[in-house]
Amino acid sequence: MHHSDQTADDTADNTFSADERAETETPSAEAHAELRRALQRRPRTVPPRWLYDDRGSDLFDQITRLPEYYQTEAERQILADHSTMIAEMTAATTVIELGSGTSDKTRTLLDAFAARGMIERFVPLDVSEATLLDAAAMLGERYPDLDVSPVIGDFNQHLHRLPTGGTRLVAFLGGTIGNFYREERTAFLGALADVLDPGDWVLLGVDLIKPVDRLLSAYNDSAGTTDAFIRNALSVINRELGGNIDVGNFDYVPFWDGREERIDMRLRACEPERARIEALDLDVELESGEELRIEISTKFSQGRLLAELAEVGFADGAFFTDPANDFGIALVRRQP
Ligand code: SAH
Ligand code: AVI
Repeated sequence: MHHSDQTADDTADNTFSADERAETETPSAEAHAELRRALQRRPRTVPPRWLYDDRGSDLFDQITRLPEYYQTEAERQILADHSTMIAEMTAATTVIELGSGTSDKTRTLLDAFAARGMIERFVPLDVSEATLLDAAAMLGERYPDLDVSPVIGDFNQHLHRLPTGGTRLVAFLGGTIGNFYREERTAFLGALADVLDPGDWVLLGVDLIKPVDRLLSAYNDSAGTTDAFIRNALSVINRELGGNIDVGNFDYVPFWDGREERIDMRLRACEPERARIEALDLDVELESGEELRIEISTKFSQGRLLAELAEVGFADGAFFTDPANDFGIALVRRQP
């Protein structure tokens, strides 16, 4: 199906996408249960998908343009330098992008695949519906011969439903894998290995370990955009789940956790907070000074990443970095 005039309704003739739409409009019972459990842990946490309503996606887009946030430009540079090689090495006929957001950088990759003339299908998958469908409409216009089939879905739950056939390349860019906890990352990579066939490819972008001051300023920008992005998770919970959390009663406190090699982004209650989240049938009571962990962002070395990938059966590829060595992209192949 061609998406030069993609609208929300166009997805209705694609069973897979229509399914996901319904599920996303009413976030699944599974996503609710996951949030409920996370809010009762210590520290209380919020799974990252609650960051991304339309406003959250927009705030993330603003983050990518902050002077302190070097990651997006570094990854763009890597794709500009190596996309032709990636298209040649993989010869993929289907490109799937997980957590695709605006798919802005992905255009460089798709240009290289389109120039090679063998790509048939592009499947972006994201929980953030409006951002995904806007991106798909834009890509449909840019590549009239490409089948652009957006999927509204959760990459932690819906990998088994990815399209099959041909040679597939799954792109997971932006360093989003760094937002997973270690056990989630292992489970995710294992699930991805399970759904791919030997010979399929994965293209995985990660932020690399670097001096702490640069890492911290990327998550504590002077314009306050990251603060607004992290705080927005509480507004999303309030709106979508009938909550009454006092969003203004929290300070944004990011820090570097050297043992786990990750930035830890928290909201600290200034005064005691008593909130009710109706749809979860949950009362949350925070003491003054108690913290909610909203997001983590793990940083990698090439060795650690490739070792984790090899453990689940991905190897035999390449590792690209930008000239400053700020960001890395691994290209690996599902082993027989
Ligand atoms: N890949 C883009 C966007 C990164 S931001 C880039 O490189 O700039 C992370 C993206 O992942 C957002 O678009 C967000 O909506 C999406 N996302 C977060 N949690 C998700 C989940 N559980 N399932 C699917 N998409 C998710
Ligand atoms: C999407 N993800 C890789 C971003 C990151 O850098 O961890 C999300 C983000 N959070 C705060 N700033 C950016």
